Amino acid sequence: MQDLQSILDGAVSALSSIDNPALLEEVKARYLGKSGLLTERLKALGKLSPEARPAAGAEINRVKLAVEAALQARRDHIAAQQLERQLSAQALDVTLPGRGAGNGGLHPVTRTLARIREVFHSLGFDVADGPEIETDAYNFTALNIPENHPARAMHDTFYLDATHVLRTHTSPMQVRYLESRKPPVKVIVPGRVYRCDSDMTHTPMFHQVEGLWVDEAVTFSGLKGVLIDFMRRFFEQDQLKARFRPSFFPFTEPSAEMDIGCVICEGQGCRVCSHTGWLEVLGCGMVHPNVFAPLGIDSERHVGFAFGMGVERLAMLRYGVNDLRLFFDNDLRFLEQFR
Ligand code: DAH
Repeated sequence: MQDLQSILDGAVSALSSIDNPALLEEVKARYLGKSGLLTERLKALGKLSPEARPAAGAEINRVKLAVEAALQARRDHIAAQQLERQLSAQALDVTLPGRGAGNGGLHPVTRTLARIREVFHSLGFDVADGPEIETDAYNFTALNIPENHPARAMHDTFYLDATHVLRTHTSPMQVRYLESRKPPVKVIVPGRVYRCDSDMTHTPMFHQVEGLWVDEAVTFSGLKGVLIDFMRRFFEQDQLKARFRPSFFPFTEPSAEMDIGCVICEGQGCRVCSHTGWLEVLGCGMVHPNVFAPLGIDSERHVGFAFGMGVERLAMLRYGVNDLRLFFDNDLRFLEQFR
């Protein structure tokens, strides 16, 4: 018994000078380890007489618990000391200015799309959305593009299987929209389109906005009026010049391409307009009777005009961006300029 008390005193005094966790573990091993002083005592219990055993066992346990408590107290003490040291070493200057949250911003193509929507909305157009995976029936046949038309060649079109494609333009939505509605309709359809093409001025994915207006008294001059009005508002140039050149699209007749006076050089001639002073911005025309007929729309009664424009093209002109690929590189130095 005498001996046990001095073991406890020894442990307590050994612990009192320790302030590092490794040494603490050594002390623990010396008393409580496999051949520690107290463990040895417990093993020796068997040599005592049966009458002496309970009291001796209880005393050993008391000392053992006391050593464990002392160990834990010292462990807590060391941890508290460490924290104290750390806190006094770390100076925290709460008056320093913050670094800011690094605000994000809208992508220039997203901004351009929003602007196009806004202007057409103010001109009374609804907005619709269509599938990017199309059947070739909608992408081509329904738009009066016959089997052997070059636009169907693998070269331009991503085929998913024999009958499905990634839509090459937003025009199929003219047909889908008219399938579920009766004229009058006045709608734009913004969305992604895909073509198997990649160079300075082409990317495999880009955005178009399709427009469709079908009513009883829609005219080609009305089409011109809407598109000129749109371009002037989009580019914020009241005097922006425009011209319509005869062109061909299978799904419109007559068809035209619209040019606007170069917004970069204002008609003086520059690299962007190839020194012509004009920029081609969209295709348009009056909806072909072959598109209307399967939809049960009588071309004698209803007239439609349609147009399709490239969004990246308009974004490049509006923001003075000279390389299409910048829109898709996701270089923050570029994107941050549009915040
Ligand atoms: N879909 C044509 C293209 O991708 C653009 C186009 C031209 C759309 C004339 C039209 C249109 O609606 O009337 O090149």
